[in-house]
Amino acid sequence: MDDERNHNTSPSSFPYLSKQLARSTLEGSADVPVVDLSVSDEELLVHELTKASQEWGVFQVVNQGIPTELMQQLQVVGKQFFDLPEAEKEAMAKGEDFEGYRRNYLEGIEAWDEHLFHRLSPPSIVNYEYWPKNPPQYREVNEEYTRHMKKLTEKILGWLSDGLGLPSVALLQSLGGETAEYLIRINYYPPSPKPELALGGAAHTDIGAITLLIPNEVPGLQVFKDEQWLGVNYINSALVVFIGDQLMRISNGRYKNVLHRPTLDKERLRISWPFFAAPRDDMSVGPLPELTGDENPPKFQTIVYKDYLKETMKNWALDKLYSL
Ligand code: SIN
Ligand code: FE2
Repeated sequence: MDDERNHNTSPSSFPYLSKQLARSTLEGSADVPVVDLSVSDEELLVHELTKASQEWGVFQVVNQGIPTELMQQLQVVGKQFFDLPEAEKEAMAKGEDFEGYRRNYLEGIEAWDEHLFHRLSPPSIVNYEYWPKNPPQYREVNEEYTRHMKKLTEKILGWLSDGLGLPSVALLQSLGGETAEYLIRINYYPPSPKPELALGGAAHTDIGAITLLIPNEVPGLQVFKDEQWLGVNYINSALVVFIGDQLMRISNGRYKNVLHRPTLDKERLRISWPFFAAPRDDMSVGPLPELTGDENPPKFQTIVYKDYLKETMKNWALDKLYSL
């Protein structure tokens, strides 16, 4: 199945799996790689990040330099928004675009969540209408978080470029450099009386380039590897990193996108804060010429990112669940 998903040469194919297939598998225990970003041996770091991105498409990073207090504040202001009365949240309901608030409690299908989605950067694409005014610190905390996370994302992309034998700026440039887009989603999954009847959201790969996610302490995130769903352990202050579709496509399949899904807890509230890095929407995205040749033909078609987004969303059973 991995082969089918990651190495399909058909230009019209998009990397996602049917939900039925995804649900018919066993659950295993977790061994998602953990990478300590504070190690001074940069060659080792590049090796570990590259290996995890090739073999897993997901890893956790620790000592990543984001102030713990800021991570905590981000969680506090996010949760405070979801604690508001329903009417206040609905005032920010999604319009035509994907930004805004939505609630989906649909037992029996793969949705049991509320979420808020909005762009963070660059400033030219930010729409503050979708940033909560309440709590009042929301904006300041998210702006500070974005500054740190953008730098961290650029560092990781630099190391992942090195791992492909490319100049450090190569991957960031292929997303548009300074014009690359950053977004956040807050997923709020209340306890479910029957967690076996629904997932928090559908199994999916992230559509963008790379995602850095803060989970709360309630486990539930699962990743698909070697035909099994594996739970991702909670590590205090770690970020979970997913390789998304675009890094897979840009690297001509050397880096692997990872299929993942949120599960629910019977008693406890789960919340997660994925931060997404994606190409500017008019960027043409496909395998880098340096990574292809006679021996290694392009495995993916080059597609303008916004067309890829549109096409992928059309293919999703429930577009309201999509995740960049
Ligand atoms: C999670 O809630 O842990 C993952 C959610 C997602 O990938 O959108
Ligand atoms: Fe996701």
